Amino acid sequence: MKQIIIEGNKPLSGTIKIGGAKNSVVALIPAAILSSGKVKITNVPSISDCDALFEILHLLNVNVEMQENVVLMDSKDLKNALIPENLSNKLRASYYFMGALLAKFKKVEMYFPGGCNIGSRPIDLHLKGFEALGAKIKKTKSKYTITAEELKGADIYLEFASVGATINIMIAATLAKGTTVIHNAAREAEIVNIAELLNNMGAKISGAGSDEITIKGVKKLHNAEVKVIPDRIEAGTYIIMGALLGNNLVIEGMVPEHNIVLLNKLQEMGVDFKLDNQRIILNRAKKLKPTNVRTVTYPGFPTDLGQPMSVLLTQADGISMFEETIWENRMGHVKYLNMMGANIVAERQHATITGPTKLHGEEITATDLRAGAALVAAGLIADGTTIIHDVEHILRGYERIINKLSDVGANIKIVDI
Ligand code: EPZ
Repeated sequence: MKQIIIEGNKPLSGTIKIGGAKNSVVALIPAAILSSGKVKITNVPSISDCDALFEILHLLNVNVEMQENVVLMDSKDLKNALIPENLSNKLRASYYFMGALLAKFKKVEMYFPGGCNIGSRPIDLHLKGFEALGAKIKKTKSKYTITAEELKGADIYLEFASVGATINIMIAATLAKGTTVIHNAAREAEIVNIAELLNNMGAKISGAGSDEITIKGVKKLHNAEVKVIPDRIEAGTYIIMGALLGNNLVIEGMVPEHNIVLLNKLQEMGVDFKLDNQRIILNRAKKLKPTNVRTVTYPGFPTDLGQPMSVLLTQADGISMFEETIWENRMGHVKYLNMMGANIVAERQHATITGPTKLHGEEITATDLRAGAALVAAGLIADGTTIIHDVEHILRGYERIINKLSDVGANIKIVDI
């Protein structure tokens, strides 16, 4: 087990370089097995979710070479296999092997996916999509067996613009007979990156990034290359830390359009920042105005930045209202922020945040990935020492977070206990 220890209140100066997007690469890797040959993925973040996916690839007999941030996969000897619980429950995105193996072998056997405990996280929309393409679903205890004689294109109406269901159906439909149209599709930037890889492999996908995606099925896919887009959630997290403690802190290698809603909110709050191409330069705000935040699907305010954003709202001069509309159980960080001196009244998916409150160091626990990021931000502005437990959650999605923060002046370390 590991813990993170922070001595707070150190200004952050220098440059933080943003890595590849977790929520893109965890779909690119499973999608790449659709190729009958080699796929090269560049700008791959070194996060533990990737390691978990490589274990599954190994089980499926895919050859993987990793050099720095480049992964070379060769699926010529791909074989189908049951994905056991100890591998599928390491991360949510293991469910992308459902779409990929169904497309490739018309059969998948795998246990329920894992991931952050932020809600019931059903996959009914994924399964309904597979059924619309002609698949049969059998569920026993916590194992799925999905089979199909053949996959046929279909019109699929998503009741909710689910990111995972959109990507999984897009992957499965790529090798189906005929044309599939996904209506009310999710529009997240990562979906465009996945469609980019599939099209580079020879797929015929249009409309990714809009709420209607068309996939004309093809027979075979070939070698390809793709670059993982910058991680807009990692960028957003460091931007929030820069608003709290920046002294000409530079966040480099981000795509401003992917974070435009956050930047508008910071402007409203009176945060001093300058955008220059793929860089943003931030300075600590002397006085922050309160604002209301409501998390919604893309391109609205991302749920994955909700928890880090609530830390910034604790420093605003007045009352901010916060509403989480995507996940029913994403307030795990509130108890710990209040232990540190914040004034947050939370009820189910709503929170009333009164500031400014001076925070002090405490011994606290990361309940999930983004709650962990929020607690790191709180520890950075707190007086004294903060000790964070269960940091494995954080390492799943933030590449080299200790190095990146200590390189810009934070007093932060990670220790084995
Ligand atoms: C993706 O999760 C991200 N994970 C999540 O990021 C992110 O919070 C979420 O999208 C929303 O932006 C990955 O990309 C690996 P959804 P996903 O399907 O695909 C309901 C992080 O911190 N729903 O868009 O699982 C669901 O319960 C993680 O990086 C169904 O009801 O999210 C939720 O309320 C956490 N049935 C809503 O839709 C389904 O079949 C959004 O889920 C699928 C989803």
